Amino acid sequence: MTTPTASIASYSQDELKALVGQAALAYVKPGEIVGVGTGSTVNKFIEALDGIKSSIAGAVSSSEASTERLKALGIRVFDANEVSSLSVYIDGADEIDGQGFMVKGGGAALTREKIVAALARRFVCIADASKLVDKLGRFPLPVEVIPMAVGQIARRFEAMGAKATLRLKDGAALVTDNGQHILDVQGLEIAEPLAFESEVNQWPGVVTVGVFAHQKASVCLLGTPEGVKTLEY
Ligand code: A5P
Repeated sequence: MTTPTASIASYSQDELKALVGQAALAYVKPGEIVGVGTGSTVNKFIEALDGIKSSIAGAVSSSEASTERLKALGIRVFDANEVSSLSVYIDGADEIDGQGFMVKGGGAALTREKIVAALARRFVCIADASKLVDKLGRFPLPVEVIPMAVGQIARRFEAMGAKATLRLKDGAALVTDNGQHILDVQGLEIAEPLAFESEVNQWPGVVTVGVFAHQKASVCLLGTPEGVKTLEY
């Protein structure tokens, strides 16, 4: 189903992100706590949330960056340990396929994203159309890794024919909100996301792999040149 949201059927990527961010408000339940992801698309959702903030109880956030934005708007941020379940978690993706399986972690928040997603009954992915893929693996796969295991995990991926690169920030290894590092892995074709996620997640030293198959999307609000397309899985 495509909902035309303007008469001009051509949007910039930024406008597409704003469209899906706004469309996600329809999934936020009055009086409840909403799960909030991380990234430039979610930032648009947070901006939209400002308009209805008095009707919600607050949010559980997946990163320090989103927490800061939510608090700046006066939205109460609950610790994930304070809630036992959420109706909905809203987040972006780096890739999403036809089954709702995703690659995430371009913003280095994958572990907390997976934790908050696991609290939610519904994962609503918000993405512009460039994120839709036939098969996962084009976007370098982020993997959060304990620093002492970086070399070992990189060699495991190399043995699979892929190339793992330590993500840098300001010339040094990036440190996540959890105090760990990120490997970005190129050259993988993820034919079986569920099996792949289970396999990599049990390698010693891996905190989280950025494949979201066990916590896949229930719905994707896809920003297209014709408007917001709703994909249900
Ligand atoms: C953050 O770690 C990621 O999982 C994001 O959800 C993903 O990178 C999408 O980000 P953008 O909305 O900025 O493209």
